[in-house]
Amino acid sequence: MNPVQKPGMRPEIPYFSSGPCAKRPGWSVSALADVLAGRSHRSGPGKAKLAEVIERTRAILKIPDDYRIAIVPGSDTGAVEMALWSLLGARGVQMLAWESFGAGWISDVTKQLKLDDVLLLEADYGALPDLSRVDFDRDVVFTWNGTTAGVCVPDGEWISADRQGLTICDATSAVFAYDLPWDRLDVTTWSWQKVMGGEAAHGMLVLSPAAVERLETYTPPWPLPKLFRLTKGGKLIDAIFTGATINTPSMLAVEDALDGLQWAERIGGLAALIDRSKANLKAIEDWAARTAWVDFLATVPDRRSRTSVCLKVVDGTVAALSNEDRTGFAKRLAGRLDREGVAYDIGAYRDAPPGLRLWAGATVETSDLEKLFPWLDWAFAEVKADLIDNNRG
Ligand SMILES: Cc1ncc(COP(=O)(O)O)c(C=O)c1O
Repeated sequence: MNPVQKPGMRPEIPYFSSGPCAKRPGWSVSALADVLAGRSHRSGPGKAKLAEVIERTRAILKIPDDYRIAIVPGSDTGAVEMALWSLLGARGVQMLAWESFGAGWISDVTKQLKLDDVLLLEADYGALPDLSRVDFDRDVVFTWNGTTAGVCVPDGEWISADRQGLTICDATSAVFAYDLPWDRLDVTTWSWQKVMGGEAAHGMLVLSPAAVERLETYTPPWPLPKLFRLTKGGKLIDAIFTGATINTPSMLAVEDALDGLQWAERIGGLAALIDRSKANLKAIEDWAARTAWVDFLATVPDRRSRTSVCLKVVDGTVAALSNEDRTGFAKRLAGRLDREGVAYDIGAYRDAPPGLRLWAGATVETSDLEKLFPWLDWAFAEVKADLIDNNRG
């Protein structure tokens, strides 16, 4: 018997996936009506659309004028790999990781690029490594927000202002949700499919003057595929940073990216995006504070992500289960909500500890989260009642 009554109200938009993320409120395919279909991306209007994405992005995120911005293939992964393959090897590297994406970049650098002077600074899911131990004489690779752990760096104060190495930041689930300190970031990457709810496929790559200098003065010893090449004859290929993409982009995805950026401008820019995300996290924190069965995976409150909020089930009966059974429990919980059509794709990432993950970026309405909480309580009670019944049987 479930002691919790089935809620009457349902979230209007049940999309809480951590990527691709919910579209902006009010989105429909009519937002794509002005798409440059059937035309070359290298035509005047094509290049203008691509340049518009770059310049609106610069304005909203307040990226300094002397930083270069490119639209690149392969989403965030493409942008990060491009940076690692093009820049690393000039000096020692320090790799930071506290969840699966950071761990993936470590694997690239040690097993694929096979760099030998690599220091690792790692922490388990829920924690952050000791940032005071980072050596900024090295190139430093890190993730601003660990999407699969729901743990982010607290700010940019730990990053040295007079560093010798470059900082390479995978900011895919942080940009448009945090005020990033551009003066501390030499390479910043993200995908369109994350915080702004755009279409997948393309990534963004932002380079500081120091990163450009490295590109123009250092040639890695390994071959670089065309998709990764940012220089020609020792000079940056300028055109890539004004909208002449390396290869063919989807103009539908471009139109959608523009729609998202224009929405951000209409609602008040970066400050408004950040406020929406903070309000969403606050709503989840308030619910978690009054809910005995759930807690954050992040162990320190100011390191909790305000985009990918990862939760664990701390109810005694469930916590006592084996890891495999806790995974099964969390999957049944997410499955129940999916079948009810009230929350899609909220299971923890496959490599993360069992639990739930709620996307709380700006495209999610706080009112929809508020409507979801009673369903979470209901589904938890349902799945727990089944567990107790099965144990009895
Ligand atoms: C921190 C982080 N890095 C990289 C990726 C990969 O992004 P994409 O699939 O857009 O390449 C993700 C996707 O969730 C992510 O969260």
